[in-house]
Amino acid sequence: MRILVTAGPTRQPIDPVRFITNASSGRMGSALAAAAAAAGHEVTLLLGPVDSAVRADVPPAVTVVPFVTVDELRDALRRRFPDCDALVMAAAVGDFRCRAPAQRKLSRCGGPTQLELVPSEDVLAGVAAGKRADQTVVAFALEDGSRHGMAARARAKLAAKRADYVVVNAVAAMGAESGEACVLSGQGVLSDWAVRTKKDLANELVALLASSGT
Ligand code: CTP
Repeated sequence: MRILVTAGPTRQPIDPVRFITNASSGRMGSALAAAAAAAGHEVTLLLGPVDSAVRADVPPAVTVVPFVTVDELRDALRRRFPDCDALVMAAAVGDFRCRAPAQRKLSRCGGPTQLELVPSEDVLAGVAAGKRADQTVVAFALEDGSRHGMAARARAKLAAKRADYVVVNAVAAMGAESGEACVLSGQGVLSDWAVRTKKDLANELVALLASSGT
């Protein structure tokens, strides 16, 4: 299979030297890329700005395409999604961008300043709208609160983003080596809540893609 994986955070500019980002390490996506390559799949990894140690963990067989901003990720996905059999959307896409990033570096001497943040576009929903029947899409949902509430919100995301599966992660998983997660499909629970390492979760997801018949 040709598997496209996205991983890591995005950066949205505030001015030429500052940006808004998040705590994603990219480890989930690099573990997925490594597991898929080890299972013999052709893997492309769209990788955000991550530590060089995470980048170094990506096996040489994986084609790595870097992105920084939400727009760069969207453009790379639009180009590559039509040619893949499966997309695993592990990237932590920034939910907000500055409405008007400053063209020049903001100066502290200018006193207090305000940023107007507007929601960024839903990248996955945009590309998955063109999904073919022979393509599989896996979304990730980062949730907080009770298990029941997390699963309900993740199900809503699964439908809204036209994904086939959604991996529900508790917020503590972000940037961590392991975390509590479950996997849902439109039919119900595929893999119940458990603490898993990212490597174990990656192997489980690659096996799921292989068995989903694409
Ligand atoms: N995602 C995306 N574009 C965004 C936000 C998220 O493509 N602007 C993708 C993520 O890569 C992930 C899935 O959508 O696979 C769910 O991301 P999540 O942050 O949990 O949900 P949001 O859609 O951002 O909703 P909310 O912030 O309201 O929880």
